[in-house]
Amino acid sequence: MRLLLLGAPGSGKGTQAVRLKDHLQVPHISTGDLLRAEVAAGSPLGLEAKEVMARGELVSDAILLGMLEDRLSREDVAGGFILDGYPRNLAQAAALDALLTRIGQPMDHAVQLAVPVEMLVERIAGRAQDEGRADDNPESVRKRLQVYEEQTAPVIEFYREHGQLTVIDGVGGMDDVFARVVSALQPVHPVG
Ligand code: AP5
Repeated sequence: MRLLLLGAPGSGKGTQAVRLKDHLQVPHISTGDLLRAEVAAGSPLGLEAKEVMARGELVSDAILLGMLEDRLSREDVAGGFILDGYPRNLAQAAALDALLTRIGQPMDHAVQLAVPVEMLVERIAGRAQDEGRADDNPESVRKRLQVYEEQTAPVIEFYREHGQLTVIDGVGGMDDVFARVVSALQPVHPVG
């Protein structure tokens, strides 16, 4: 299965992707994680991305597309994948569509985790205390939420218009949200 997870910062994409990858037995591809790995490695790409990410802005479309093409060319995605963090604007959505058409692997599902903004801020504040992620400070979080509203929210409409979108209530315990997502993916992958 090829599954796209959409949602604002803090909506639980990464949390659910970790569970879904075990359930679906496909790799989890997070563009945020790929970028953070580049930053940690101190690669030229990482050096370029580091400050942009810390400010809560989007890294360039060209860098992201190159990274994604590279990741999707690996053998482990032959049976599907869970994509989290991409696309984040309409140009990326069009690029992804073209890339998946070219490699003959169209997206099966696009799932949006819907969470009110106060709860997003609360969750990210909790993670800031636990993990200290560089972009989880209040100023960057404000920027990330603004970027989401302005650039990423139209992507949701893109998938709605293509008849691929399922909106899931992302409020509640992590297990409850997981059960809702799995049930939305049925009958292809029933629980148990
Ligand atoms: P990225 O890593 O994608 O960050 P994000 O979208 O801001 O997402 P988060 O990781 O904050 O949220 P999430 O939805 O995964 O929630 P999570 O499960 O972690 O991107 C970071 C940066 O990289 C971007 O700002 C940009 O600069 C760059 N970038 C990445 N992709 C890009 C692209 N395509 N183009 C350009 N630039 C790009 O949960 C959050 C917290 O809530 C956790 O602590 C978790 O434990 C908790 N939580 C989760 N679910 C629940 C629940 N049900 N109940 C209670 N707590 C919960």
